Amino acid sequence: MILSCKDIYKSFGGIKAIDGCSFTVAEKKITGIIGPNGSGKTTMFNVISKLIKPDSGTIEFKGQDVTGLKDYELAKMGVSRTFQDVKLFQNLTIREHLQIAMSDTDEKLLSNIFRGKEGDAQKIKEVMELVGLDKPLDTYGNDLSYGQRKLLDLAIAIAKPHTLLMLDEPVAGVNPRLRDSIKDILRELNSRGESILLIEHDMNFVMDLVDHIFVMDAGKVIAEGAPEEIQNNPCVLEAYLGGSEEGTKCL
Ligand SMILES: Nc1ncnc2c1ncn2[C@@H]1O[C@H](COP(=O)(O)OP(=O)(O)OP(=O)(O)O)[C@@H](O)[C@H]1O
Ligand SMILES: [Mg+2]
Repeated sequence: MILSCKDIYKSFGGIKAIDGCSFTVAEKKITGIIGPNGSGKTTMFNVISKLIKPDSGTIEFKGQDVTGLKDYELAKMGVSRTFQDVKLFQNLTIREHLQIAMSDTDEKLLSNIFRGKEGDAQKIKEVMELVGLDKPLDTYGNDLSYGQRKLLDLAIAIAKPHTLLMLDEPVAGVNPRLRDSIKDILRELNSRGESILLIEHDMNFVMDLVDHIFVMDAGKVIAEGAPEEIQNNPCVLEAYLGGSEEGTKCL
């Protein structure tokens, strides 16, 4: 197991966004998180990647308690993520975005940008080929289509040194061809030994790709299992159709 979240609680004012959520991510597997809008999926990603502090609960990464770490400390340990709303710098080029991603220290960043090391140029080429982003490296973030931005965001997450990749809705709003190509990219990364945790609403994509699924509703996990088990679980369907105020209880 590479990641374990135990009994996480997080309220925003009166809203219990996370209400006792626990799940684990197996090493070298693809794990999916599904659940209705507002069920707390992104908030869990924010808690795990340290953008927000939970009210209580613990997080372990590679067997170490990382609950109290800062975001950059966890990133250094090997957690890389994408965001539901792609965040790119409009005035930076593809190359600059990837150089920043590959720099884990300020010194390395400066040497990457001003001296453009050979090894890094090779890594950039590899990542671009892997995601299939067919644009010149000096294209600005501003000049990319939605699908290309999604690919660059994925390339940035991949370019960061990591062992766990966390993707928040990697195929939201992309066309079916790109969706299939993102599926292939993730399979390729997984076959190289990466552990992947992804949130996604696209059921065909999730069911086809992941090894294990956790279903969230109202801030907690209400079901888990292999894709076939989840597909045939009537309780999960009920959660999607709008269960009770406190959420549907399946476990
Ligand atoms: N910073 C915040 N301040 C206040 N409320 C928040 C904040 N972040 C999330 N919430 C609330 O927490 C709940 C869970 O939101 P979250 O974004 O985690 O859901 P989600 O499962 O990712 O939904 P979606 O599938 O629509 O992306 C929602 O009610 C949301 O409005
Ligand atoms: Mg979300």
